[in-house]
Amino acid sequence: MNPITHVAIIMDGNGRWGIKHKKSRNLGHRAGLITVERIIKSTIKNKIKYLTLYAFSTENWKRPKKEVNFLFGLLDRFIDQKIDEFNKQNIKLKVIGNITVLNSKLKKKLKKSEYMTKKNSRLQVNLALNYGSKSELINAFKKITKKKQNINVKNIEKNLYTSNIPDPDILIRTGNTNRLSNFLLWQMAYSEIFFEKKLWPAFNEKDYRRVIKNFKKIKRNFGSI
Ligand code: IPE
Ligand code: IPE
Ligand code: MG
Repeated sequence: MNPITHVAIIMDGNGRWGIKHKKSRNLGHRAGLITVERIIKSTIKNKIKYLTLYAFSTENWKRPKKEVNFLFGLLDRFIDQKIDEFNKQNIKLKVIGNITVLNSKLKKKLKKSEYMTKKNSRLQVNLALNYGSKSELINAFKKITKKKQNINVKNIEKNLYTSNIPDPDILIRTGNTNRLSNFLLWQMAYSEIFFEKKLWPAFNEKDYRRVIKNFKKIKRNFGSI
C-alpha cells in the first residue's frame, strides 16, 4: 500500500458549474470554496500531511477584470472567515507563487495568516496563488546563479517555492480537462495523475476517497522495476 504524504489539486470547473447551475461563473467560484472546506476536512481525516490547492495561475490574469477581482475578493473574505478555525484545527497555511503583485492589504493578510499558523502540524495547506511553474523555475535558476551555486537537483529544489515540501504523490484535476496548466511541473515528475470528469464544486468526499483507494493499489516504480 502506497503511503500518501502530499495531494495536489487543480480545482478546475468552477466557471462551467456556475453557468450551468447559477447562470454566473462567479457563483461557481463561490460554490468551489465549499468543496475546498470539504476536501480539507477529508484530507485531515485521511491523515495526509500536505495539500496543495491551485487557486490562481500566472495565466489567469488574462481573464476579465471583473472575474479576477471577484476571485481575490472571495479569497480575502475566506481568509477573514476561516483562518481562526484553521488555526484551531492545527492547520498551517503557506502561500506558493508570486504574491508581490497583489494589493498590499491582501498581501499583509496572507503573510499574517502564514505567521499565525506556522507552528501548526496536523496539515499544511499550500495555496498556489499567482503560481506558475515556469516562473518558479526561472526564479530558482536566477537565485542559484546569484549565489554562484551549482545547478543540480538539490539546489534547484531548495530554491523553489516548495522547498522542504515533499513532492506530490497524487495530482487530482477536476473539470474533465487533461492538462497540467503550468502547475508544479518539476515537483510532479513522479506524481500519479487523476483526471476527474466532475467539475470542482461537484467533487465530493466520496470521489476523493475513490482516488485515494485507487492510488494505494498502484505500483510506483520510480524508474525501477
Ligand atoms: C476554477 O475553475 C479555476 C480558477 C482559476 C479559480 P475555472 O474558473 O477555470 O472554471 P472553468 O474551467 O472555466 O469551468
Ligand atoms: C488551472 O485552471 C488554474 C487553476 C485551477 C487555478 P485553468 O482553467 O486556468 O486552466 P486552463 O486555462 O484551462 O488550462
Ligand atoms: Mg478552467
